[in-house]
Amino acid sequence: MSNQLDYTRIPPLPASVYVAPLKKPAGLGDDWLEPVQRSYTAEEHRIWDDLYERQMKLMPGHACREFMHGLDRLDLHRGGVPDFNQVSEELRSLTGWTVVPVPMLIPDHVFYYHLANRRFPAGNFIRTREQFDYIQEPDVFHDVFGHVPLLTDPVFAEYMEAYGRAGWKALRYNRLKALSALYWYTVEFGLILEEGGMRIYGAGILSGPTETVFSIEGGSPNRIHLNVDRVMRTDYTISDLQATYFVIESFRELFHMTEQRGFEPIYESLAPAFQYAKTAALDTDHIYHRGTQEYELRGGRGSGARPV
Ligand SMILES: [Fe+2]
Repeated sequence: MSNQLDYTRIPPLPASVYVAPLKKPAGLGDDWLEPVQRSYTAEEHRIWDDLYERQMKLMPGHACREFMHGLDRLDLHRGGVPDFNQVSEELRSLTGWTVVPVPMLIPDHVFYYHLANRRFPAGNFIRTREQFDYIQEPDVFHDVFGHVPLLTDPVFAEYMEAYGRAGWKALRYNRLKALSALYWYTVEFGLILEEGGMRIYGAGILSGPTETVFSIEGGSPNRIHLNVDRVMRTDYTISDLQATYFVIESFRELFHMTEQRGFEPIYESLAPAFQYAKTAALDTDHIYHRGTQEYELRGGRGSGARPV
């Protein structure tokens, strides 16, 4: 059945599937793409440069090898916000991916459609100085600095496309939350074991300094080997540091764990709500580090808790 799916069109949204009511700006088509990348003020270009320089101080020893390699191959530090066309040209020659501008978060089914066609939708806007340390909505720094370098890696590039294709099935089974949890705990907040130790590949971590340190060095969070069944049943934090990180051994492992699973047995057996709390460490887990959850217990960001 799955080979009859047409990934070149936006998947239809079944009536039973709830999607957040996002208001599409006037003038955009069903694919939500902006006709061109917007232009930025001199101050906005400086914000990119300052974010880039701050983050690069932390990348060695924290970011995974493939991310560092991707940064080397794509020069994202030519002065100011990178030009999507230029980045896309380089990326296309490496793995066939491109970066396309969107105004804001886009609906899940449209997001799947772009990923399945090796297009990465990147937020057009950049945060302000006031939002320098933290912004909940993904901006161009998060999307381009955080996500794009890894798209140069052939195996990760394949995983991202497979993730997009998996969206069709998740729509059919009405399991978008479960598939989102997988994205969250891999693409956004994933850790990977390397010879030198644990490193980061998740863009949600790599685009901010606090979680870059916390995810690797903090005593609070759990670090648990990734298990797809488990992750799809696990709640997650949207607006604070994660209570648990899931760890892979390689991108090949990640690709095999997901692509060959089919997901139907998981979707058919899922409870209506997430089964496991974000702080849970289970007897069946392969635990690298059982977190103290001190940060979480002290109330997290909202209470001014120290990220330890
Ligand atoms: Fe992201």
